[in-house]
Amino acid sequence: MASSMSSRMRDGVDRNAPAYWDARFAEDGFAYGTEPNDFLRLVADRLPGGDALCLCEGEGRNATFLAQRGMRTTAMDFSAVALRKAEGLAAQRGLRLQILCCDLAGFDPGVGRWDVITMIFGQPDPLLRRALYARLAACLRPGGALVLETKVEEDAGSDSRYPGSPVLCAELLGLDFAIARDSTRVLREGRYHDGEQRTAQILAFRPGYP
Ligand SMILES: C[S@@+](CC[C@H](N)C(=O)[O-])C[C@H]1O[C@@H](n2cnc3c(N)ncnc32)[C@H](O)[C@@H]1O
Repeated sequence: MASSMSSRMRDGVDRNAPAYWDARFAEDGFAYGTEPNDFLRLVADRLPGGDALCLCEGEGRNATFLAQRGMRTTAMDFSAVALRKAEGLAAQRGLRLQILCCDLAGFDPGVGRWDVITMIFGQPDPLLRRALYARLAACLRPGGALVLETKVEEDAGSDSRYPGSPVLCAELLGLDFAIARDSTRVLREGRYHDGEQRTAQILAFRPGYP
C-alpha cells in the first residue's frame, strides 16, 4: 500500500487525477506530437485489421494513425481536454474516431471485442495496471494484438508504475509474446518525450485464429 501511494503521489503530483493531465493537454500544441509512437509504427504491418482500442490515448496521435490505416478506432482516456484535441486531429485528416472519456479504473473493454489494443505510455497505478493486464487477452479477438510501450525504471518491481518487460509479461496473462524487450532509446515524440529514455516494448497476440 505504501509503495502504491508513493507511486500515486510522486513529486507531489497525482498522476491518477484527470486534472493533472487536463492541465498538460490545455497547453498549446500537442504534448507528444501528432506523429504515431515509433514502436507502433514499427509493428503496424504485423497488426490485424478491424477494431482498435487505444487506451490512455491522450491527444490522438496513435488512434489517428490506426484510423488512417483503415481501422475502426476508439480513443479512450480520462482527459476530456485531450480527447477534444484527438477529435480535432482526426477531423483535420478527414477521419473519425470513437471517443470514450472515462477512467481506466471503471472501464470495461468487453470480451473478444478488439483486434488491436494499444497502450502507449499509459502508466497507471500498479494496482490498476495489474488488474487490467490480467484481463486484456480476453478483450482481444483470437489473433488480436496488444501493442505496448512504457517507461521503465531500473530494478522496478510489480509495485512500481514503471517496471520492465519481464514484470509486465508476467502480468499480461494469456498472451503469446512476439516482442518483449527493454532498451534505452532516444524519444523524439513531442516536448514531453524528448531525450534518452529507458522503455519496455511489447507486441503480443491472443492465441488462436481470427
Ligand atoms: C503519457 S500520456 C500518453 C498519451 C498517449 N498514449 C500518447 O502516447 O501520446 C498518458 C495518458 O494516460 C491518460 N491516463 C492516465 N491515467 C488514466 C486513467 N486512470 N484512465 C484513463 N486515462 C488515463 C492521461 O490522461 C494521458 O493522456
